[in-house]
Amino acid sequence: MITEDFLTNPTWARKDLTAIEDLSLREINEVFALAEVFKASLKREEGKLGYLSGKTVVNLFFEPSTRTRSAFEQAAHKLGADVISVSSNASSLVKGESLRDTARNVEALMTDMIIIRHSAAGAAKYLAERVSIPVINAGDGAHAHPTQALLDTFTMREKLGSLEGKKVTILGDVLFSRVARSDIHALRKLGACVTLAGPSTLVPREFEAMGAEVCYDLKKALADADVVMLLRIQHERQSSNHFPSIAEYAKIFGVNKESEKLLKKGAIIMHPGPINRGVELDSYLADSERSVILNQVSNGVAVRMAVMRLCMKNTRKSK
Ligand code: CP
Repeated sequence: MITEDFLTNPTWARKDLTAIEDLSLREINEVFALAEVFKASLKREEGKLGYLSGKTVVNLFFEPSTRTRSAFEQAAHKLGADVISVSSNASSLVKGESLRDTARNVEALMTDMIIIRHSAAGAAKYLAERVSIPVINAGDGAHAHPTQALLDTFTMREKLGSLEGKKVTILGDVLFSRVARSDIHALRKLGACVTLAGPSTLVPREFEAMGAEVCYDLKKALADADVVMLLRIQHERQSSNHFPSIAEYAKIFGVNKESEKLLKKGAIIMHPGPINRGVELDSYLADSERSVILNQVSNGVAVRMAVMRLCMKNTRKSK
C-alpha cells in the first residue's frame, strides 16, 4: 500500500539506478508513490514541473530503442530538463573512444545526468562508479532493465492492487532477457509468485535460484495466472538456434485466441515491446481488452520521472 510517508520521508539516498536488486522494498514503494503524483500531474496536463529545470540529461543509447529512449526524453522534458541524445553510430565510440572517456567528456560538458543503454552487462554500473553525476541504466546486455521492471510492476499494481501472492507468468526468451531478470527481482520483492515458461533451451532451471518456478507446459503456465508477460525472441543476443523454427515456437508457445481459453477472467496481458506479432503473441490478444501493453508505455514516463527526480536529489549539484 502506498502511504504519504513514502513521499514525505523518502529513504532513497542513491545517485544511480543500475539494478533493481539493489533497491529495498521501501525504495520501490517510494518510486511508485512519486510516479503516482507525476502520473496525476501528466493527466491534468499541468505542463513542465520544473524539478530538473536548468539541468541537462544525456541519453547515451548504444543499442536501438523506441520506448525507453522516448520515455526518458519525455520524462526529462516534463521535469523541465534539456536533453542531449547521443547514439552509437553517431558518436566517437566508432572512432575508438572508450565508454569511460565518452562519459567523462559528456560530464565535462556540464551535464547533470546520464541515461545509458549498452550491449555489455555491467556498463551502467561501470560508468556510475566513474562519473559524479547520476547514471540510470536503460538496459545493459542481458543483465538488467530496472526502469522497465518498475513500470511493469507499477502497471500490475494499478490493475490488480497488491502483488502479494499474485501469479505472474513470464513466457518466452527468458535466458537472454534483461527485462525478465529485473522483473523477477522486482516481483519477488513485492511478494508475487513468478512462473517462467518457454522452451527449456530458453528457460533453464538455473532461474529457480532466483525464487521463480520453471514450467515447460503452456497450459500449466497460463492456468491461474493473474499476469502473462510475453517476451520476444532476442535473436540479436543469440549465437545459435535455441529451437527448430519460429513457426514451431509460435505453434507451441505463442499466445493466441485459442490459448486465451486457458486464461482466467481478469488475467492481463503484458509485453515490454517490441512485439513480434504472430510469434509470441497474436494481434487479437495484443489489442484486446486484456492487454495493458500501452499502459506500460505510458506509465514508463511517470515512473522514469520519479526515478530521475529521486536520483537527482542526491547529487552535489541538486537544488
Ligand atoms: N521495453 C523496451 O526496452 O523497449 P525499447 O527497446 O523500444 O526501448
